Amino acid sequence: MFITFEGIEGCGKSTQIRLLADFFKKTSRDFIVTKEPGGTEIGAKIRSILLDSVNVKINPLTELLLYEADRAQHVEEIIRPSLEAGKIVLCDRFFDATVVYQGYARGFELVFIDYLHENILKGLKPDLTIILDCPVAIGLKRAWKRIADTPENAKEDRFEKEAVSFHEKIRHGYLRLAGIEPARFNIIDAAQEISVVHEEIVRIVTAHERAK
Ligand SMILES: Nc1ncnc2c1ncn2[C@@H]1O[C@H](COP(=O)(O)OP(=O)(O)OP(=O)(O)O)[C@@H](O)[C@H]1O
Ligand SMILES: [Mg+2]
Repeated sequence: MFITFEGIEGCGKSTQIRLLADFFKKTSRDFIVTKEPGGTEIGAKIRSILLDSVNVKINPLTELLLYEADRAQHVEEIIRPSLEAGKIVLCDRFFDATVVYQGYARGFELVFIDYLHENILKGLKPDLTIILDCPVAIGLKRAWKRIADTPENAKEDRFEKEAVSFHEKIRHGYLRLAGIEPARFNIIDAAQEISVVHEEIVRIVTAHERAK
């Protein structure tokens, strides 16, 4: 099973993946946790270019192609082999993020992005995608707190520095995607308490396992 987590900056993706991983450990499920960008050694180098706000000059096409370069490596090196080995894969952001950020928000043609994804994913798709949805003001406040609390992430603030209108486009872009493919997406109100969100995720994941 391949589960991806999406949503605006600071909505709680990393927190909820950690909690779900703890639950999987307790229940002896075989799983891995990974992320985009930066799920591989090569990807970690790409991530530092993409998220560091020193790189304000990055060209939007460069940005798009770096995300896809990261993804091409990640799919072949980590995701596909893990799924073939029967592991559950939990991934912090995946190709939907590119559709929303580079497509809906930056304005690249969706046919171009879809064509890249056809060639990179070759039919691979998450079984389940959880969207942690919350107002932009809440997400950004949390994201800045996370940056302040974790000095090792202090340089990962390029997207946090985008205008509020950009984050609104991201939030609504995710909701639009969920409307197009309702069977794969589950939207959770991420403004709720951490434990409440976690319980909802466990309920969705276990229901999905039973249905498989
Ligand atoms: N439901 C919640 N209520 C209150 N605080 C929360 C909630 N979920 C997460 N947080 C806190 O908000 C901050 C950001 O959470 P987290 O890092 O999980 O978000 P994220 O979606 O991974 O962000 P990013 O997109 O920047 O990686 C953390 O300090 C976390 O403890
Ligand atoms: Mg995170």
